[in-house]
Amino acid sequence: MSEKDFIAANHTSSIENGNFQWSAPSNIAIVKYWGKKENQIPANPSISFTLNNCKTNTKLSFSKKENDGNFSFDLLFEGKPKEDFKPKINKFLERIEKYCPYLKNYHFTIDTENTFPHSSGIASSASGMAALSMNIMSLEKALNPEMTEDYFNQKASFLARLGSGSACRSVKGSVVVWGNHAEIEGSSDLFGVEFPSKIHDNFNTYQDTILLVDKGEKQVSSTVGHDLMHHHPFAEQRFDQAHRNLSAIKTILENGDLEEFIKITESEALTLHAMMMTSMPYFILMKPNTLEIINPIWKFRNDTKIPVCFTLDAGANVHVLYPENVRESVLQFIKAELVGYCQNGQYICDVIGTGALKI
Ligand code: DP6
Repeated sequence: MSEKDFIAANHTSSIENGNFQWSAPSNIAIVKYWGKKENQIPANPSISFTLNNCKTNTKLSFSKKENDGNFSFDLLFEGKPKEDFKPKINKFLERIEKYCPYLKNYHFTIDTENTFPHSSGIASSASGMAALSMNIMSLEKALNPEMTEDYFNQKASFLARLGSGSACRSVKGSVVVWGNHAEIEGSSDLFGVEFPSKIHDNFNTYQDTILLVDKGEKQVSSTVGHDLMHHHPFAEQRFDQAHRNLSAIKTILENGDLEEFIKITESEALTLHAMMMTSMPYFILMKPNTLEIINPIWKFRNDTKIPVCFTLDAGANVHVLYPENVRESVLQFIKAELVGYCQNGQYICDVIGTGALKI
């Protein structure tokens, strides 16, 4: 597939007005995307677990208008107009227009809400851009009803990527790879693909308890962070390492080796933060409580041999990852020893999910 394959075909049908509704989940990367080239092409491949409970629900209503050369849309967040989200959506529509030339023929109302608290510090860009892209593809399918399901999902992921890179991993599948990797069949820089091999039972219903350490605005946006990889002294080594870690994770997901899974996962999280700490300018996105959480996780794992580990995204919150069969012990440990380090004692229990759903 090339970018040209995603330019919409001439319509075979027409539609005046209507609405669609999709929910799309967030995802948590195990091997991290950090650094990109032009047009949202990732500097290295990444792999993520799709979440189940942290989602964005988006309803897209549309009615035909004159194509006056402009996009026209209203944006509602939790039922109320939200002007400050509009520039980001407008930029997204501009980026995808080439692939979806029908967009200027409609006025849209985008009505969106998240299942997780807005100020939780959990980025809603992945779930939000994925949910919007699924809706846009529903409209495109109404215009081109012969579209296959595979094309629908690939193009939804392709569009979501242009909104926010990690969003392309929130379309379909429990474990999703984005970015060309020599050993992963079908992998592409243009869209996310479901991990192609059978995943070991150890990873079925894998748990992610998200400890909300800092709910504040991000100190540095992902976009700025990605840009800092351009003149980063360790960039090339990091991109090579991501390829190697993805090869290792592929084997681990197939054979169920949790000890090896933990090593790669935690090393990836700390490497991501190490890249931020060693860029110019440099950032520390962890908070003291991030470390207050990591240290007891290591001690608990060492004392009990329970295979629990952590990962981080580009912020201070800690994702605690573990298999379902140790859920009770881990939750007990979290409540006894970690919740005190969360802002207002807040955490979210999530589990590996399957992707976006039409409502
Ligand atoms: C640290 O997808 O938010 O979460 O493409 O600029 O929107 P943009 O970046 P974004 O970056 C996410 C980076 C990460 C790692 C990951 O999810 O792989």
